[in-house]
Amino acid sequence: MTLSFDFSGRTVLVTGAAQGIGKALADHFVGAAARVVVADRDAELLKQQWPDEGESVLRLELDVADAESVRVGIEQVVRTWGSIDVVVNNAGVARDAVVWKMTDEQWDTVLAVHVTGTFNLTRAAVPHMRTAGFGRIINVTSYTGMHGNIGQSNYAAAKGGIIGFTKSVAKETARFGITCNAISPNAATAMVAAVPPEKLAEMTATVPMGRFADPSEMAAAVAFLASDEAAYITGVVLPVDGGVSM
Ligand SMILES: NC(=O)c1ccc[n+]([C@@H]2O[C@H](COP(=O)([O-])OP(=O)(O)OC[C@H]3O[C@@H](n4cnc5c(N)ncnc54)[C@H](O)[C@@H]3O)[C@@H](O)[C@H]2O)c1
Repeated sequence: MTLSFDFSGRTVLVTGAAQGIGKALADHFVGAAARVVVADRDAELLKQQWPDEGESVLRLELDVADAESVRVGIEQVVRTWGSIDVVVNNAGVARDAVVWKMTDEQWDTVLAVHVTGTFNLTRAAVPHMRTAGFGRIINVTSYTGMHGNIGQSNYAAAKGGIIGFTKSVAKETARFGITCNAISPNAATAMVAAVPPEKLAEMTATVPMGRFADPSEMAAAVAFLASDEAAYITGVVLPVDGGVSM
């Protein structure tokens, strides 16, 4: 599928681009003529999935939770391509446990990757977007961030935090030609494959469309929010979830 939005001349950075939703989003941005920075902390998988760098792809090994790694990464992008126009904060992890069994490591890791990671990328990119007078930030939240889930208090806190963060940044940056929105996906990826089969069957039964999406089905929503045409849309959370959040 080729997107009908044209991203030629735009630099798009997608975190968590080595697999799953991030890989599918980056694939589609490449198809829509963007210069795409594929960022992930899994360097080996990143290289395997994106063997060819060139005029339209730049591989960036970074840990979104590490502010310095993000700062250096964004500088490298701007040095290479002159701008950073779109940031998709998609990298994510899950470390599930009921709250009374949750370790500090499980709590801290999930909050660090999702909340601090989203903050790190946004803080590093916004000054460049302000200079350019254009920017699109798209964060990835979750149904769980709005409704909670057993075994995922850390993930729910992180994804709920991302919603408040999205709206605050949307208000702060609106005057500068920058929008900040979020999607709430539901797609069959490694993260979903890790869910025990009985639990997965239960989850699938709650989706009005009766299935998880292919990760590529997230691309149209993200491309729309990233487009020039979506200039007057900011601070929204767009569910791309087969109706599960109705
Ligand atoms: N799959 C779904 O149905 C679903 C539902 C709701 C929300 N989400 C969210 O969508 C996003 C993508 O999920 P997915 O299902 O594609 O996951 P995935 O596990 O398939 O891919 C996540 C990617 O993020 C990378 N990553 C993890 N921590 C990182 C870090 N610190 N720095 C850089 N990269 C890091 C991983 O290496 C991996 O490549 C996540 O934020 C997830 O929470 C997914």
